[in-house]
Amino acid sequence: MNRAILACLSLIVVAPASAQDAKPAEPVPLQLTARQDHKLMMEALGITSLREGANGMNRNAPNAANYDESKVAPFTLPDPLVCADGTKVTTPEQWWKTRRPEIVEVFDREVYGRVPKDTPDVKWEVTETNEEKVGDIPAITKRLVGHVDDSRCPGITVDIQLTLTTPAQAKGPVPVMMEFGFGGFGPRPGGPRTKGAMPRPADAPARKATPKAAFPGGIGGGGPSWQQQVLAKGWGCAIIVPNSIQADSGAGLTRGIIGLCNKGQPRKPDDWGSLRAWAWGASRALDYLETDKAVDAKQVGIEGLSRYGKAALVAMAYDPRFAIGFIGSSGEGGAKPHRRNFGELVENLTGSGEYHWMAGNFLKYGGPMTPADLPVDSHELIALCAPRPTFISYGASTGPGAEGQWVDQRGSFMAAVAAGPVYRLLGKKDLGTSDFPEVETPITSGELAFRQHKGGHTTGPNWPTFLTYADRYLKLQIAP
Ligand code: GCU
Repeated sequence: MNRAILACLSLIVVAPASAQDAKPAEPVPLQLTARQDHKLMMEALGITSLREGANGMNRNAPNAANYDESKVAPFTLPDPLVCADGTKVTTPEQWWKTRRPEIVEVFDREVYGRVPKDTPDVKWEVTETNEEKVGDIPAITKRLVGHVDDSRCPGITVDIQLTLTTPAQAKGPVPVMMEFGFGGFGPRPGGPRTKGAMPRPADAPARKATPKAAFPGGIGGGGPSWQQQVLAKGWGCAIIVPNSIQADSGAGLTRGIIGLCNKGQPRKPDDWGSLRAWAWGASRALDYLETDKAVDAKQVGIEGLSRYGKAALVAMAYDPRFAIGFIGSSGEGGAKPHRRNFGELVENLTGSGEYHWMAGNFLKYGGPMTPADLPVDSHELIALCAPRPTFISYGASTGPGAEGQWVDQRGSFMAAVAAGPVYRLLGKKDLGTSDFPEVETPITSGELAFRQHKGGHTTGPNWPTFLTYADRYLKLQIAP
């Protein structure tokens, strides 16, 4: 009997009625609460206590989030161009052969977790094709489901939801921007803008999971939707539903793609967390797009906001097939330096509400160790995107309708600056400045880009600037 079957059998909870009936029963996924799973991980790591995260809701709390630059403790980011053995990286070859894999290994082990080597196959099915108008642009929308092979643990079904909308008049394959969408299949881009046209999965995150004090700004409205803007260029747009890949909760870690690979058992400390799983799902969607004749799969970009901004950055960093990234308000766990004590902290991500985004090992840095012990920092995640164009987007930190500073706009800018040497080594242009720009001042002359719009916690107002910048990189091969 091979080890996989043995592992499955060890999970049988209902004994067969008699020896004759004995056939391999299906493994039953463990059902834990986030707190239980979090505690198990702490035990596995030998951690007895974790430091409290920053409080973004109450300015008078003893652990109130720091929004005062003068109180930021000095920190040093690791040099992305110095290898673990101290060798200085001076050529692109050294970067690709030695340094980049070293950085990937540390992010895998300590930060986002490893994707198992043998992830199950995904079979894509087009479940619906509709002709529709997006604004006044005739378009074709396909709804797709990526069925993940569940033979290793048939109790766990993972059906990845994806929609793809391309201009009906396209004369050939088009570039596509793919977004990590909130909730389930939403209304069609061209359809009425009603909420809840399709049921949201039970495990979908609250749309506004963010403390009000942290993000007082709303989802800025008005003007054409991002899909309209993208289609108006003759490009396509796609939405992938993260929760159909992996739940946004520690309680879901024994299910979804992570649970399926673990046959319903809890994670090992270096197993992947939800961010890496969402990014994996986006890569599987890209596999599908490579087979769709309407799509120029060499020109697919990835976009997301907030936790999905983190996921978009992880997807960009790990899958070099993504041609461009639009990283919205990714904050801690995304573009914000872990080492900077401003706004949200590592300690927020190691608590039971958010730890599932990360590898279990990440908990160590909110407990016995500190963020300064992390062998990598966010600038190196940005550097993994090099030489590809990467646009770091935020709302304003202060002012009416602003996003607030929980996400640490300035720190994220500093991380982008610190990723610059890798872009330059690979022959590309970095931000070209280390001066933190004013709101609505785009830094878009190089491959690395940064802009804060005037609004709140959304990528919305940055789409026009992003698309002008993206225009330099994504091209329609055949004019419509
Ligand atoms: C919280 C969390 C952030 C996250 C955000 C979101 O504010 O602290 O890290 O990005 O939720 O995804 O909504």
